[in-house]
Amino acid sequence: MGRFSKAQVVWAPFRPCAAGEKAPYPRSLQTPEGLGDRLRFVAFAEKQAMEAFRLAAHHFPDASPLQCESWLRLADEEQKHLSWLLGRMEELGVDPGERPQSLALWNSFDRCETADQFAVFMSNAEERGRIAGEQFHETLKSTDPVTAEIFRKIAEEEVEHIRIAESALRS
Ligand SMILES: [Fe+2]
Ligand SMILES: [Fe+2]
Repeated sequence: MGRFSKAQVVWAPFRPCAAGEKAPYPRSLQTPEGLGDRLRFVAFAEKQAMEAFRLAAHHFPDASPLQCESWLRLADEEQKHLSWLLGRMEELGVDPGERPQSLALWNSFDRCETADQFAVFMSNAEERGRIAGEQFHETLKSTDPVTAEIFRKIAEEEVEHIRIAESALRS
């Protein structure tokens, strides 16, 4: 029904792909540009998660008060992850808007018709993000321990996000 794809979201400082435009393939992780591509991609995922939790808290009429409360809390947590990544990008001189970002994750939230469907869908997205974060940590820990530690900490916290989302589902 377009609950998400039709929402007016300010994506700055990121630049989403135009309709029909494909996001460019990430460059080699052995290069500063490739590291920048991963940071930008993960930061944009955090931005989408933050916006999705906020929107969901106000736009699923069947959501329980506890669910809405946990989503607003999770939105703040995703905002924190986003700020860690944007801070690191600034240190490394990575421009968030340099390359267009796919809105596929964001648009896929449209498939959720109920609050519980959104909660399950989001948990799965968080789990994928957690695994990717752990992999980036492993790959980067010898070459860029500072960035690697940010990915590790985010992955660790996503475990707690999944737990919060699941406990709100059972209530
Ligand atoms: Fe996150
Ligand atoms: Fe999360």
